[in-house]
Amino acid sequence: MLTLLSATRNSHSLSPEAKPVVIDSLNKVLATLLDLKLQVQQAHWNLKGPHFMPLHPLFDTFASELEIQADEVAERAVALGGIAGGTAQSIVEVSQLEVWDKALQKQSVIMAYLVTQYADVAALVRNSIATVAEVGDEGTADLYTGLSRALDKNLWFLEAHEAMA
Ligand SMILES: [Fe+2]
Repeated sequence: MLTLLSATRNSHSLSPEAKPVVIDSLNKVLATLLDLKLQVQQAHWNLKGPHFMPLHPLFDTFASELEIQADEVAERAVALGGIAGGTAQSIVEVSQLEVWDKALQKQSVIMAYLVTQYADVAALVRNSIATVAEVGDEGTADLYTGLSRALDKNLWFLEAHEAMA
């Protein structure tokens, strides 16, 4: 496991016991969001089917949103005195997602796969709200709550498109 606490002094009021719990959680969510972003880009590039348009630009929008969300999560980890794990190695070691099958191209299969992946990430973030709230970090709980809502919304978009795929 990566060492996620840096040696730098940090004056955030969160208790010393809570920080590693929250920073570990943030890094788990970060790696998973970055993994999902890469998987959405795989779909953006490789999808083939009758609804290539509008799915191709939709996936671009989703990837951009995930990049912004990952940035917010990473910066929260550093603000709490930790180190944000955003390397390819961190993603491989820490992401909670299944590995993307690079042979996937068929629209209906990709849509079903992405629905599962988004549902898994949304569940991870929702469960993580309680993890950080229990150690007194309402700030990260609030970040996760907004993120959870955004993931749920895009999961709905995917499910709506999946119905016509
Ligand atoms: Fe593109």
